[in-house]
Amino acid sequence: MNNLIDIKNEFDLKIQVAATSEELDSVRIEFLGKKGKVQELLNGLGAVPKEERKDRGQALNELKNAIQTEIEQKGVRIKVAELQEKVAKTPVYDASLPYEAKCGSLHPITLITNELEDIFASFGFSVEDYSEVVSDFECFTSLNIPEHHPARDMQDTFYLEDSDSGQCDGEIKLSSTDRRPPITDHQKLLKTHTSAAQNSLMKKYGAPLRAIFPGRCFRNEATDATHENTFFQMEGMMIDEGVSISNLIYFMKTMLSKVFERDVEVRLRPGYFPFVEPGFELDIKCLICGGEKCASCKHSGWLELCPCGMIHPNVLKQGGIDTEKFSGFAFGLGLTRLAMMKYGVKDIRVFNGGRIEELKIGK
Ligand code: PHE
Repeated sequence: MNNLIDIKNEFDLKIQVAATSEELDSVRIEFLGKKGKVQELLNGLGAVPKEERKDRGQALNELKNAIQTEIEQKGVRIKVAELQEKVAKTPVYDASLPYEAKCGSLHPITLITNELEDIFASFGFSVEDYSEVVSDFECFTSLNIPEHHPARDMQDTFYLEDSDSGQCDGEIKLSSTDRRPPITDHQKLLKTHTSAAQNSLMKKYGAPLRAIFPGRCFRNEATDATHENTFFQMEGMMIDEGVSISNLIYFMKTMLSKVFERDVEVRLRPGYFPFVEPGFELDIKCLICGGEKCASCKHSGWLELCPCGMIHPNVLKQGGIDTEKFSGFAFGLGLTRLAMMKYGVKDIRVFNGGRIEELKIGK
């Protein structure tokens, strides 16, 4: 019987050391295989004296069963461990991610919009959202730009079909002056500037009023590095008693100093827009050369940034504002332009290009 105990001891030692399915299999072959240690003893059973044979046979079977059970149990443990290791090592692929899984970031326009909204909110301005599809009245007529006014030519846009009824079926037709449908006040079009929201916001809130309204604008443009058919503006309006150009300059200067995180110098040049009187182009001193004149400011020392002016009395009246009592200023900040300057984007087409690497701002 002694050799049975020796075999079991040897088996116990070897099974403890076996760590892989292969190692376990060689232990199984060594002990239970056709030429294995247990089988050898079973084969030799015939030579055992008759009176001992029964006990010996029983002991051998018990040994065989014990070894078998232990091998099976250890086999399950090894399989589980091997599977866990395989799972841990297998990379998980998200099929919805582009090849070479790249992470996106907030769009530069979103970043600059968020920043400006925070700044103007701290000045007590509300932030308004406005439709991209507006009527001819909102975009032009209410802003002192009647039909046939030459200012319309600079803002050719995309007109929606079936608009005589005031309802559009959603089909957008690219206009050109000769293909443009006959103008009616309720002709629907894609807005060419955020000023298109001025009239309805005046009617909605009345005076006094402080609001900004960022939005996507559309123009029929030949695109290049500085021109796009789709771009963003942020309109601002402040209407109250005694609002003057000084208020306009103060708000613009403070806002721009916050955006560029340094004191910026501004100047106003006369500019013509039918809906403001007087109208201005607001320039800032070039941030690259500090006014010394460089290529970035076309050697003028100044950068044109924001058209603005005092709201024309006709526009206030159209919006139901009492012009005897109230006055106001408006500005149309070129958000896309500002984002290009702030984040050093050289080509405007990057913003609508959808390439993640180009749109990633190191913030
Ligand atoms: N809406 C004008 C444009 O897009 C800009 C502007 C806004 C000018 C407000 C004056 C006042 O060209």
